[in-house]
Amino acid sequence: MLVVLGAGLATAINTAKNWNATAAARRLKNPVPPTDDAIAAGRQVYGEHCRSCHGEKGDGRGQKAAELSVAPGDFTDAPAMRRRTDGELFWQITRGRLPIPAFADKLSDQERWQVVDYIRAFADKPSGTSSAAPLTSLLQAPRKLPSCPAPSGCHSF
Ligand code: HEC
Repeated sequence: MLVVLGAGLATAINTAKNWNATAAARRLKNPVPPTDDAIAAGRQVYGEHCRSCHGEKGDGRGQKAAELSVAPGDFTDAPAMRRRTDGELFWQITRGRLPIPAFADKLSDQERWQVVDYIRAFADKPSGTSSAAPLTSLLQAPRKLPSCPAPSGCHSF
């Protein structure tokens, strides 16, 4: 396939590239709010360009995933997704890194932001079983320390 040839060339150059988004990329603001329309458009893009590797549910278990040298990311991992900014996801999709192709010249900026909106939705809408995420974050909420009983203070350390 033509796409594969092109992607092969692009990714060969990409291999050596550092994939850690720059601070500027992390701060990039998503100009496409996650409206129903944007998410629907993102779903379309995802179905065409991403699902084969990243899977129907965004869990990284697409039909091609087993053939890849690196496992695709898991977009249903809510804590991991929260650590990423939209700008960072956009940047990674734009540049790619073997074996994920660069989408800079395959998708428009608008389409890449829409697909960011869509992949965010995998973690925002946990499917039935994964109610663990909110629970653990609840358990990890900072606990209030008991107040010091001595009136003259307990700050000896
Ligand atoms: C050929 C298979 C393939 C296709 C097609 C593909 N990806 Fe990937 N993707 C991967 C792999 C493999 C990784 C992990 C790369 C790495 O960590 O080096 C990845 C990583 C990512 C990451 C970073 C996730 C993380 O956990 O760091 C994002 C975001 C992403 N892909 C989005 C997309 C989007 C959006 C599309 C479609 C426009 C897409 N990918 C198409 C294979 C693919």
